[in-house]
Amino acid sequence: MVRFRPWGATALAALSMTQHAASFNNPQNLPIWCGKIYSKDYPADDPGGQFQFPTPRSEPLLYLTIQPRYNIFLESDDSTSFIVNAPISHIFGSSYKNQSYDDPGSSTKNPFTTLDIEIYNEESGELLKSSSVPVNSTGNIIDFSLSSFKPLFEPYEVSIYGTSPDGQQSYTAKTHIYVLPSRSYGSAVKIDNLYGGLYVQNALNNWKGWYAIFPNGGYADGGYVSPANISFANLDTYASQGFNTINIVPDGGLPDQSYPVAELEQYWNRMDELNLFNLYDMRFAFQNTTRINEQVALWKNRTTLLGWYTADEPDGWEYNLNSTKLAYDQLKELDPYHPVSLVLNCQNFYYEEYSSGADIVFEDAYPVSINATYSIPWGVPCNLTYGDCGCDNCVGELTDVSNRLDDLQNYQANLRGQGSKPNWAVIQAFGEQEYWTSIPSPAEVENMMMLAVNHNAKGISYWIYPSTDEVNVGSGQLGQVFQTAPGIDFLFGANAIKALPTAGETLIDASAWIVGEKMMVGIASGQYVDSSSAISITLPESASSIDQVLYGDSGWTVSGNTLSKSGLKGLEVGIIVLNIGT
Ligand SMILES: *[C@@H]1O[C@H](CO)[C@@H](O)[C@H](O)[C@H]1NC(C)=O
Ligand SMILES: *[C@@H]1O[C@H](CO)[C@@H](O)[C@H](O)[C@H]1NC(C)=O
Ligand SMILES: *[C@@H]1O[C@H](CO)[C@@H](O)[C@H](O)[C@H]1NC(C)=O
Ligand SMILES: *[C@@H]1O[C@H](CO)[C@@H](O)[C@H](O)[C@H]1NC(C)=O
Ligand SMILES: *[C@@H]1O[C@H](CO)[C@@H](O)[C@H](O)[C@H]1NC(C)=O
Ligand SMILES: *[C@@H]1O[C@H](CO)[C@@H](O)[C@H](O)[C@H]1NC(C)=O
Ligand SMILES: *[C@@H]1O[C@H](CO)[C@@H](O)[C@H](O)[C@H]1NC(C)=O
Ligand SMILES: *[C@@H]1O[C@H](CO)[C@@H](O)[C@H](O)[C@H]1NC(C)=O
Repeated sequence: MVRFRPWGATALAALSMTQHAASFNNPQNLPIWCGKIYSKDYPADDPGGQFQFPTPRSEPLLYLTIQPRYNIFLESDDSTSFIVNAPISHIFGSSYKNQSYDDPGSSTKNPFTTLDIEIYNEESGELLKSSSVPVNSTGNIIDFSLSSFKPLFEPYEVSIYGTSPDGQQSYTAKTHIYVLPSRSYGSAVKIDNLYGGLYVQNALNNWKGWYAIFPNGGYADGGYVSPANISFANLDTYASQGFNTINIVPDGGLPDQSYPVAELEQYWNRMDELNLFNLYDMRFAFQNTTRINEQVALWKNRTTLLGWYTADEPDGWEYNLNSTKLAYDQLKELDPYHPVSLVLNCQNFYYEEYSSGADIVFEDAYPVSINATYSIPWGVPCNLTYGDCGCDNCVGELTDVSNRLDDLQNYQANLRGQGSKPNWAVIQAFGEQEYWTSIPSPAEVENMMMLAVNHNAKGISYWIYPSTDEVNVGSGQLGQVFQTAPGIDFLFGANAIKALPTAGETLIDASAWIVGEKMMVGIASGQYVDSSSAISITLPESASSIDQVLYGDSGWTVSGNTLSKSGLKGLEVGIIVLNIGT
């Protein structure tokens, strides 16, 4: 019986051609993945859909933006703020001249270094805040009061107006904020638009305030974690391995391609007891408005609902370009309390369109034991216009994961008027399939986890649980470091300072997070063999001492802005907290 089938992996996607349907750029239903033909029966063709980077201009622009600190507020929240950015940009914004006159007509010219701002509730016209921010600053936190907002299920429009001190240069931007009724059941999950972290309120904290959750949990084989003959054994083991979230992959074989409802209900009761959060997977439902309505009505009150997961590799399958946004809008109408997420599989295929339907965008580059240049199952080369090698436009290194995160963040930063979106990484924990000759080792999995976090992944998932026992245990253990203090305080309290300079070995990836008087450093060595070289990492600030080693070898020493160690094990991962200053 097809209780479960791991549909998401690209292997099955590409191999089961009957799964393909004619799509917007493939009316003839040719064998295509990420817009590229992968069968030798057809010639290469430009897939299209590449991200169009705006052309930089030579003159400086001031790019004023405003976002709510969190994607939702509740009427019960006592701390509410906006994020105001006013960087000098050469891509977006309005003309900026570094001058401001004392008086109209006066010739006394001052530099224009402070932008005066006013923020309005556009529904009521009320002035929410009058303040100022430095020109060329980002991440300004501007507090405001919710008093002029009646709790509603619809978002309010908010505008910001910025002017130079002489009023001669002006700038404006808009955003939306949700001010939702407080909860006394279910869960509410909000995204920090500044650092990308998730915060929850639910039965665990009796709907008082919010607690941070760094999601670390796999897509799970439903037949394994939630078998038809009800047994909690595997689900309990899963939770005891340290995972705090799960995405049970729906059963594509059922009539509505979702879950056996009575069974899931029992498993979800267990998840509530464990406070194990479910990312509810609607991969087979999200293009059908009836299914979305039905499934949201069934589960939206669950205290361990983390969020909605819609499209699984929509860019690979070439689902309609509007499909993710249509589902997103419907979900926000039905349930504004939870974020919407999806995973993109392609490196550069209609990012703007597909990501427009998500609050959180996952990447799932699976680089381990592939042949990145020659398609093993299809016998064709892979390049920018041809072939499917199981990891789109990859080179077959672990750093394909971190490079993909950088790509997505780069696309997002180059969309006008949009803030950042959190990214999560789906780490390869499977293999012995067509494109992937072997299952990654625990060291490879942990290295990819560290690379992901170093490149600002704010959550981690795996395809697919169960993996090998060693991978299950290792990913749960390293995940604990990200999920608990002090690790989570750095990850949710700062953005990573990426690509710290290193010496002694070429393939080290290191990032730093600075919060208060402490700095966390994450290190992933890309070399498979042990090295005995003297390793050094240049820190963004000087540190006085090692506070604690959160993961890995304890042989690190710090002096000034240099973190050093003698030798690294193959694929070594380290997480160290340092005391800043002297
Ligand atoms: C504007 O001019 C002042 C004074 O020269 C300078 O300090 C400041 O950096 C300039 N700001 C920008 C954004 O060009
Ligand atoms: C604006 O700030 C950025 C980032 O701090 C800096 O690199 C750049 O030089 C600044 N630009 C001006 C004109 O001051
Ligand atoms: C459920 O079925 C599986 C597979 O047939 C079996 O291994 C397991 O022991 C059964 N569990 C219970 C609780 O009956
Ligand atoms: C949408 O889903 C409903 C409920 O599963 C089903 O009855 C209907 O046939 C689906 N519509 C399409 C177009 O697949
Ligand atoms: C969810 O909670 C709301 C508000 O209490 C209620 O109207 C609705 O019936 C509940 N739905 C389910 C499926 O429990
Ligand atoms: C979404 O796109 C499809 C394919 O282009 C089109 O047929 C459909 O009308 C669009 N739906 C909406 C609601 O715009
Ligand atoms: C990929 O396959 C090609 C063709 O069989 C072969 O020449 C090449 O060595 C393979 N590369 C890897 C990394 O296995
Ligand atoms: C990709 O490979 C195909 C088949 O060899 C070739 O026709 C095509 O020109 C290549 N594309 C690029 C961008 O190199």
